[in-house]
Order: sequence, then structure tokens, then C-alpha cells
Amino acid sequence: MKIRVVKEKCAGHARCWAQSPEIYDLDDEGYILDGDIDVPEGQERAAWLGAKSCPERALVIEDY
Ligand code: F3S
Repeated sequence: MKIRVVKEKCAGHARCWAQSPEIYDLDDEGYILDGDIDVPEGQERAAWLGAKSCPERALVIEDY
């Protein structure tokens, strides 16, 4: 499973991180770090919940 980060859509809501801090990292200003995320096995549900929590739809679930 992979999460594609659409960095330009991120508005800094930080809900992804609040939901699943083990998957999503934010920068010092509270925006998602750029770059796709390879989700470790067993953490798919956490990744999915975090992606769905983003109101800007900046986190796109792929290969799932
Ligand atoms: Fe950004 Fe969405 Fe997370 S706006 S900080 S990717 S909840």
C-alpha cells in the first residue's frame, strides 16, 4: 500500500497526523511532508483512516 501525497493541496489541518502519527509526518509549520509514503505491512488501516481524515483530500490511497 502506498499513499500519494498531493503536497499542494495540504492546508495544514494536521488531522492525518492526529489520527495516525505513526504514518504521517508534518513539517515545523504543520504541513504534511512531501513525498509518497510506503505503508508498512500491518499499518494499512491506520494509513487509510489518516488519509480519509484529510478534508483537503491531499492523501491519495494507492496500490490497495
Ligand atoms: Fe495536510 Fe490534510 Fe494532513 S491538510 S496536514 S494532509 S490532514
